[in-house]
Amino acid sequence: MGIQANPHGTTGFLGWIDDRFPLTKIWKDHVAEYYAPKNFNFWYYFGSLAMLVLVNQLLTGIFLAMHYKPSAAEAFSSVEYIMRDVPFGDLLRYLHSTGASAFFIVVYLHMYRGLIYGSYRKPRELIWIFGCLIYLVLMAEAFAGYVLPWGQMSYWGAQVIISLFGAIPVIGPDLVIWIQGDYVPSDATLNRLFSLHVVALPFVLVGLVVAHLMALHEVGSNNPDGIDIKENKDENGVPRDGIAFHPYYTVKDLFGVSIFLTLFLGVVFFLPDAGGYFLEKPNFEEANPAVTPEHIAPVWYFTPFYAMLRAVPDKLGGVIVMFAAVLILFVLPWLDRSKVRSIRYKGWISKVAMITFAINFVVLAWLGLEPPSDAKTLAARVGTVIYFLFFLLMPIYTKMESTKPVPARVTS
Ligand code: HEM
Repeated sequence: MGIQANPHGTTGFLGWIDDRFPLTKIWKDHVAEYYAPKNFNFWYYFGSLAMLVLVNQLLTGIFLAMHYKPSAAEAFSSVEYIMRDVPFGDLLRYLHSTGASAFFIVVYLHMYRGLIYGSYRKPRELIWIFGCLIYLVLMAEAFAGYVLPWGQMSYWGAQVIISLFGAIPVIGPDLVIWIQGDYVPSDATLNRLFSLHVVALPFVLVGLVVAHLMALHEVGSNNPDGIDIKENKDENGVPRDGIAFHPYYTVKDLFGVSIFLTLFLGVVFFLPDAGGYFLEKPNFEEANPAVTPEHIAPVWYFTPFYAMLRAVPDKLGGVIVMFAAVLILFVLPWLDRSKVRSIRYKGWISKVAMITFAINFVVLAWLGLEPPSDAKTLAARVGTVIYFLFFLLMPIYTKMESTKPVPARVTS
């Protein structure tokens, strides 16, 4: 009859599908016969957790959008309505607002893993660059979302952040009016941020995550030893140090999911505002353009960059430093000149640099939350210099330090 045999040997309904759509092929290529290094550790939980949190945000967001009203007159009260009258509305909102902070916790740990194991190095530069783009879009998405409840911090946060564009020479002031659609944050601003938050940015985010994973599956995962497992394959072409993603890593990731959900739901149920860190207190008051809150600070995940912005006396200089702090991540693959990928085999300078960088980032985050004082501004300046030196000196210290020999096979 001219009908070719199904190469996967599937029959029945699945066979019918496989004759028309590469379902079994996708499952085998990306899950059942995708061989990942066998030495993944704690740090490898956060990629799958990032996907889980993304799905949580998309699902809870869809239901929130069913009850939310994107207008300056109704936004705040529609959020109150969700909290009080919509069945499980308070749970939906807290899953979403706590989810935003969880997203950044998970993504920061995921990025730090990339940093310590050199996962950004050749041939994984594009995985890293897609990751950096995800991070940028995620920040825009979180900013837009934070404005939507139209509380005091939503309003004044939007005012502070959008006015930063005013520092750009020549076009700045007009640009601010164009972004806001008005002379001050207003109904028009809220409407466009709503559109970006629920339609445009989630699409871009999901597209980037797909590209991130396609790039990952093209070259294969790195691992804590930074060894190329594809260089040592058995007679069937399977890496000797690889194990099938399913069932081994699906089970491991499910364990990670269960721990994560326990912690995450603990916060959602018992401390959803995290004492003012996840939902800031002034945001429980409706936006009032006539009353500026005493102290305006963004949510914790932006505060390292906010501290750097405030550390520079000149507004334009601050804006440049803040954006440079994010953009420098993109060129990381070309700054690291070490002979080895993983921190395990790098020299002591890299180890000290990596730990200092992490502590410095947390200190900057704290400084960004605090009202400025002379001492804190000085500390933020030192922190900003340390942040940039970590990257700018990397080509030097990674090249000059002596490294340890990398074993031929992965260690467990
Ligand atoms: C929505 C956000 C993100 C999602 C859903 C996501 C998802 C994933 C997944 C599932 C993996 C494979 C599992 C793993 O290695 O943990 C992965 C690997 C990776 N991701 Fe992400 N990611 C996100 C954001 C980022 C960001 C912001 C960066 C860096 C700027 C990044 C850099 C990397 C790198 C370098 C790898 C390869 C790691 C290795 O093989 O050692 N990702 N990502």
